[in-house]
Amino acid sequence: MRLDKMLAAMGIGTRSEIRKACRDNRIQVNDAIIRDPSVHIDPDQDIVKVDDEEIGFTRYVYFMLHKPAGTISSTSDSRTTVLDLIDCNVKGLYPVGRLDLDTEGLLLITNDGPLGHQLLSPKHHVEKEYIVQLKDAVTDSQLEPIRRGIRLNKEETCLPAEVRITGEKECHIIMKEGKFHEIKRMFLAIGTEVVYLKRIRMKNLILDESLKPGEYRPLTDAELNGLKESAL
Ligand code: URA
Repeated sequence: MRLDKMLAAMGIGTRSEIRKACRDNRIQVNDAIIRDPSVHIDPDQDIVKVDDEEIGFTRYVYFMLHKPAGTISSTSDSRTTVLDLIDCNVKGLYPVGRLDLDTEGLLLITNDGPLGHQLLSPKHHVEKEYIVQLKDAVTDSQLEPIRRGIRLNKEETCLPAEVRITGEKECHIIMKEGKFHEIKRMFLAIGTEVVYLKRIRMKNLILDESLKPGEYRPLTDAELNGLKESAL
């Protein structure tokens, strides 16, 4: 891997800042000053230092974020994004999937493109579980169309979802797809409105309730291994 690519991936600076740091003799590989940022290094073996500080190479990072309402699930926007909440310079971070602006709860933030792709791929049917609070109480029989796969309009029909009543105006729903505003539109289709929505699980990954909205932590090895297990 090129030295400048490795350092840029670790958030040390832009390629041109790294070129300048090389010219200024600030970068060492295995204790030798390197003036050519394009040299190839083995990030798992070679010791890279900037201003005498060792820069460890982490290919991928994984964070569980408790997304607060009012943050946008995208990588850049004039409003506060979920990435603004993460204090990490590693390049290429993104949220795996989108929650609406007013939805709270579990969001995986990573720079692991292949894993995110696998979790979001419609063919993998990854389970997502939500707490849904409703404007009105619903009966169990009202939920039947959602269980069978509700038709939203001429073009869109949802996959069957597991849904159960958990309170006077509250349900838990387990979805295997993620159409735009899907849960809100499902409940509108049965005659009520979602007033609060919180994601509490994606596949094996359960929202850590010790995280307050806006807080995050790295995934444990067990959580990560569970996410990587094939759904097949
Ligand atoms: N369904 C919705 O309607 N909103 C979300 O944020 C997630 C699922």
